[in-house]
Amino acid sequence: MGVDDAIKAFKDGRPVLIYDSDSRESEVDLVYHASSVTPDAIYTLRTMAGGLICFATRWSIASYLGVPWGDDLIASVPALRPLTERKLFYGDRPAFTIWVNHMSVRTGISDVDRSRTVRELYEVVKMFVSGDREGARRKFLGEFQAPGHVPLLASRGLRSRRGHTELSIALATLAGLEPATTFAEMLDRGPSLSLEKARAIAEREGLALVSGREVMEACEGVELCW
Ligand code: 5RP
Ligand code: CA
Ligand code: ZN
Repeated sequence: MGVDDAIKAFKDGRPVLIYDSDSRESEVDLVYHASSVTPDAIYTLRTMAGGLICFATRWSIASYLGVPWGDDLIASVPALRPLTERKLFYGDRPAFTIWVNHMSVRTGISDVDRSRTVRELYEVVKMFVSGDREGARRKFLGEFQAPGHVPLLASRGLRSRRGHTELSIALATLAGLEPATTFAEMLDRGPSLSLEKARAIAEREGLALVSGREVMEACEGVELCW
């Protein structure tokens, strides 16, 4: 199954698997469009995938809400700055900003709580893209608490970075959906799950698996992806 199937899955509320590339993490993330996230979807992310469950949107939106990059925030404490100067082996700057909970949650971590936080974040993004930018900012600043249990990641666009953050937001763009995704890395016992094992799971579960290269090819001529 290719990008067309992944786009259709996103539109139908089903998750897709995205492999970034051999020259980067070589990881497969299980990805939902944020509008489809339910407590059951969070359960699937932590049982079928197992990695960190994140919410992603575009940097242009996150920054409008007043959200800083996580590394900038940490570097603003002089003693901690060296921590932000050490990079992962593939050299990307992290996509992390801050971690949040919706104020209505109990502890923030249960499937019900993380689903609620994700869905409220999705509402913020939806307000923003429908033109109510001030309403989106008011909702974000008025209804969330930090630090919380859902990491908020920001996409810089495929021209700058080709992580699961950017690839998932590009896929949402190709599907004509709001730039809001939720995903977790697929893990094995010990290492991250191999592409081969991820392929077998995708086949067994009837899920689309796409590579970063395929997403980028489909994004040719779609400026919003870049
Ligand atoms: C957060 C991560 C994951 O790798 C996730 O896939 C998003 O990051 P990236 O855009 O770097 O791939 O680090 O758990
Ligand atoms: Ca990463
Ligand atoms: Zn990743």
